[in-house]
Amino acid sequence: MKWDLFILAFLFISQVIAISIPQTVFRIPEEIESKKHKKGKKVFTKYKSIDSYFKQLKESTDDSNFSIIDDFGLEDQHTWNDVIEEVQRLNNKHGHKKQYKLFFLARHGEAWHNVAEEYYSSKEWNCEWQMKDGNGTIEWFDAKLTSTGEGQIERLSKAWDSQIHHNNAPIPQLYYISPLTRTLQTFELTWSNLINIYDSKPKVVELARETYGIGTESKRHNASYIDFNFPFVKFDTGFTFNDDLWIPDKHESHQHRNYRAHLLLNEIFKKDDNTVISITSHSGLISSILKVIGHRKWELKTGQMVPVIIEGSKPGHYRKPTLDRPWNDLKECKDSSNEYVL
Ligand SMILES: *[C@@H]1O[C@H](CO)[C@@H](O)[C@H](O)[C@H]1NC(C)=O
Ligand SMILES: *[C@@H]1O[C@H](CO)[C@@H](O)[C@H](O)[C@H]1NC(C)=O
Ligand SMILES: *[C@@H]1O[C@H](CO)[C@@H](O)[C@H](O)[C@H]1NC(C)=O
Repeated sequence: MKWDLFILAFLFISQVIAISIPQTVFRIPEEIESKKHKKGKKVFTKYKSIDSYFKQLKESTDDSNFSIIDDFGLEDQHTWNDVIEEVQRLNNKHGHKKQYKLFFLARHGEAWHNVAEEYYSSKEWNCEWQMKDGNGTIEWFDAKLTSTGEGQIERLSKAWDSQIHHNNAPIPQLYYISPLTRTLQTFELTWSNLINIYDSKPKVVELARETYGIGTESKRHNASYIDFNFPFVKFDTGFTFNDDLWIPDKHESHQHRNYRAHLLLNEIFKKDDNTVISITSHSGLISSILKVIGHRKWELKTGQMVPVIIEGSKPGHYRKPTLDRPWNDLKECKDSSNEYVL
């Protein structure tokens, strides 16, 4: 996309809107959602994790010290061919009523906000530092990977290399990336040695980003920055030039994030001829995907990845769930006059 043209058009349109309806309050998340949640369009209304292939699904597997590097959790008695054949078999068996895809859900490597979060007490971080761009020594606004984070992803990339070339693991056919810098870097470090990242047309999607609001680490740069630094990505339709989704004073509720995860799955399941999907995202959003598909709770550490087979079923009109949980406004950090106190 030609971003200079886009910016001109954007400025023009925002001027027109500003002149004609100055009082409008923009509810951007809802605008994006309503585009992704078109009335009358059939989607799968239910998603489920189906599995007997990966150790991560077993209640007895401990996620706190699990090493994904060995076979990514594939059970010893199975091969990647078994997994792919099973997905194909299920797809052939159920026609359009149910669809199955193998997902690789990857969390970014360690980034600067992860370091800062450890350095400060949780109260200091939550009530003061997360709202700043950095502390003078390090910056965590749209946080970049640390060298530790880069090392984690280089190891993951080597593990992929070995799985693909020695164990016949499938290479994803579609790639989705959160537009934040740490996930874009993670995608590039993971895949640039393994595939042609231009030909694979990885898509930057807002639905895959981390919990909206308050923490500056999850506020994104504008589209020309992304385009300039990661020229291999494609932008999702409707991707706005500036970050209109991040708000300074509220954290998105989990309920809302789960809804977003469902919309993301709807988007992906539309592409029905692709069965192997990669999503490079964040702990919060991935935990929402796992929640939506009824997978057990699985905490991904930085630089980790979890494979999962997802079944889409009950095609129909997905009704927007009731979104009644309040977004968190850091009440615990404020005094009676609504001022922040530490
Ligand atoms: C993980 O920790 C559990 C106990 O908490 C232990 O039984 C298990 O062997 C450990 N697994 C690995 C891979 O270190
Ligand atoms: C900023 O945070 C980092 C934690 O990673 C710490 O090492 C550094 O000393 C802090 N800088 C200041 C000025 O507090
Ligand atoms: C986009 O972001 C970059 C980097 O933050 C900045 O230098 C540039 O001025 C921004 N462009 C516009 C049109 O706002």
